[in-house]
Amino acid sequence: MTQITQCDATLGAVVRGISLKSPLGQADLDAIVQAWHQHAVLIFPGQHLSDDEQIAFTRYFGKLERGNRRSAKSGLSVLSNVQGDGVVAPPSSLQSRFLKGNTYWHTDSSYKRVGAKASLLGARTVPTTGGQTEFADMRAAWDALSDKDKAELDGKIAVHDYQFSHAPFGGLETLSVDELAQLPPVKHPMVRVHPDTGRKNLFVGRHASHVVGDNFEASRQRLHDLTQWACQPPRVLTHQWEVGDLVIWDNRCVLHRGHSWPAEQARVMVRTTVAGDAPDNEWVL
Ligand code: OGA
Ligand code: MN
Repeated sequence: MTQITQCDATLGAVVRGISLKSPLGQADLDAIVQAWHQHAVLIFPGQHLSDDEQIAFTRYFGKLERGNRRSAKSGLSVLSNVQGDGVVAPPSSLQSRFLKGNTYWHTDSSYKRVGAKASLLGARTVPTTGGQTEFADMRAAWDALSDKDKAELDGKIAVHDYQFSHAPFGGLETLSVDELAQLPPVKHPMVRVHPDTGRKNLFVGRHASHVVGDNFEASRQRLHDLTQWACQPPRVLTHQWEVGDLVIWDNRCVLHRGHSWPAEQARVMVRTTVAGDAPDNEWVL
């Protein structure tokens, strides 16, 4: 029997009593998708999925998104601070610096013309302390805004820019000139409507650089302030990882960030990403 238990926040639910290792029946899949639309983040403890099993589960939600590296063909990316030789990468390494970018509130791939629909993260190696992932509900953030702010924000367009958000974290060294050229700044509305639920939500986060037509510096500050304000209780949920957990979140209405952990400890997470549904999405695998 599948049990779905709502978390103590405006988003998130824990799903138990179902194995994601084998193909799902239509009734189970429908229940999961419905719960996902309602809660926006679903936590499946103790699944211990292989890479292929995670990819198979991911495909129920749509097409896989291609990574930013041209070499990334599998639809699976590993977020790890462990080097090829098995040693934990030093904080000064490009590998560790790049991961640090994830500690700022964001929604995956919003710097792409079509952002990601969903992300799935499976825990393979977790530190003894820290390394949680935190989620924030941008539907509830929109609902909590004053009428004045709502009127002011609705219709505004923000520029989301890979180079802006990743430059401080080695993002320019990570990609080739050719790969960077595939990621020009893009425009997204600051208030969006979720295609499946019809609920409005606030669209901000670390990739948003400035607001079109507003004073550049002032709008940058406003985006930052809005993100900080939005990502507060009761709209936030922190997941403390155990090895084998799988979490899926909806990038179309959720911000997330990783927490730091002791630099000498290993953390290995496997990420799969569902591409945005636009028929002409160039990032579909
Ligand atoms: C991600 C991400 C945060 C974390 O996988 O997209 O931002 O806690 N992860 O690893
Ligand atoms: Mn992310």
